[in-house]
Amino acid sequence: MSRPTYTLAEGQPLSDPSISLTLPTIGGGAHTTLGDTLLLETLAHFNRERIPERVVHAKAAGAWGEFEVTNDVSALTAAKFLNGVGKKTKVLFRLSTTGGEKGSADTVRDVRGFSVKFFTEEGNHDIVGNHIPVFFVRDPVRFPSLNRSHKRHPATNRPDWTMFWDFHTNQPESVHSLLHLFGSRGIPSSIRAVTGFGVHTFKLVAEDGSFRYCKFHFRPVRPITHFSGPEASRLAGANADYHTQDLWDAITRGEYPVWKLCVQVMEPERAERFGRGLFDITKVWSQREFPLLEVGRMTLNQNPENYFAEIEQAAFSPSNMVPGIAMTPDPMLQARMFAYPDAQRYRLGVNYTQLPPNRAICPVYAPYERDGFATTTRNYGGDPNYVRSSLSPGVVKPTAAQVRHHERIPSFVLGQHEIPVDEEDFVQPRDLWNRVFDESERRTWVATVAETLGEIPTPLTEAVVEMFGRVDARLARMLGAKVKDISRL
Ligand code: HEM
Repeated sequence: MSRPTYTLAEGQPLSDPSISLTLPTIGGGAHTTLGDTLLLETLAHFNRERIPERVVHAKAAGAWGEFEVTNDVSALTAAKFLNGVGKKTKVLFRLSTTGGEKGSADTVRDVRGFSVKFFTEEGNHDIVGNHIPVFFVRDPVRFPSLNRSHKRHPATNRPDWTMFWDFHTNQPESVHSLLHLFGSRGIPSSIRAVTGFGVHTFKLVAEDGSFRYCKFHFRPVRPITHFSGPEASRLAGANADYHTQDLWDAITRGEYPVWKLCVQVMEPERAERFGRGLFDITKVWSQREFPLLEVGRMTLNQNPENYFAEIEQAAFSPSNMVPGIAMTPDPMLQARMFAYPDAQRYRLGVNYTQLPPNRAICPVYAPYERDGFATTTRNYGGDPNYVRSSLSPGVVKPTAAQVRHHERIPSFVLGQHEIPVDEEDFVQPRDLWNRVFDESERRTWVATVAETLGEIPTPLTEAVVEMFGRVDARLARMLGAKVKDISRL
């Protein structure tokens, strides 16, 4: 391959990019000048290298891969990328922590974001999930507050457990997520060993327009493994990019990470009797009643060639859905369908869909979205830029199976302004504590939470113990005793 010779940004030949053109000692002049295009464009570009990092989920690793259908689900969904055993679709994957900034450590206790973009023949489909199955809040207006309470205190500029627990004791619908967060799952040992959950309830829509509710699950083929708190803290200091490196090195070695994509499916008739857990993302669906049905496998097989171009500029959004998969009345899902493209217009510019990691592989014809900063396409040439033109080459065609129907769910679920926290919110966390955790996990959980309570005001500690007491009385006793032990030390 021939080696490139250096040029300026617009291609003019340059003898050496490491020497300013008008450097006094070289050119003989007394001053560097405004005519030194090399120097000026180098400095000016450097000043503009940074773009806003994601307001949440800023630290991440990513890779390219492939999804292959292993089970025929065409009776459930018209989505073409899920139809036909053996069918392959290119994917882009990004795994993030939530609270930390772009340069923060990987091995921290946090919820991991699990994003997948499927480049299908019908446009991009994104699953933008988390590594735990439930979320902290169910009213989207609380989302910014939730995240601020996990990030830096406005005065001290440090993470702050008082703020954290003040938020959660006043919004105790988060107990289920808190049990997961402070459990072993809170610190995965490898990106290759995490589960991924779509979390929300979506609809699978069949060719004939019939639909079922569904939840998406990615299950790693290798065992799900974790770090202990002390080991994770040590690694966070020794190698802040530990997970990023682990993923990169595994792909370089040819040890490609693999996940199975599964769905849980619920018939609409069952949904009518299911109650509020249907669209409340602080709840899971029992796998006994709604078993996992394998759909396909995702394999990551290619590291990015350039992190900024391919991963930082990637724009995942729950609003990217193909025909055959549809949204539901979950208010969190609908809020997210606004929030992500909005964030991306701010972070990447209005034409972010034209950037390489976001570009659909199928033809795109959206001539009523044009112009704007940094258009890189031919911008629809002279095609009419107004709708209903007789001169437009565009063809109007109904798309497959976009169901427009009324959710037949009782109004007590959909019609409420706020779902108040009640006993039902503690049933699944109790199950997790008593049936899924073993005694060693319970003890570690208590010790981990107790450590966070050391420096917070006593009434808040009491409120935390009381909140977890609604999950289980013994949990509260164990936590109360542990806090006392620590304060005696
Ligand atoms: C109302 C609730 C929520 C709002 C308003 C919200 C908002 C956001 C925003 C603005 C971003 C940055 C997007 C970007 O700049 O590209 C983001 C990232 C992310 N969020 Fe949320 N979020 C919400 C709930 C959730 C939930 C429930 C999940 C998981 C099920 C989730 C998973 C993620 C992930 C994985 C990312 C990183 C996407 C990437 O890899 O680029 N979020 N969120």
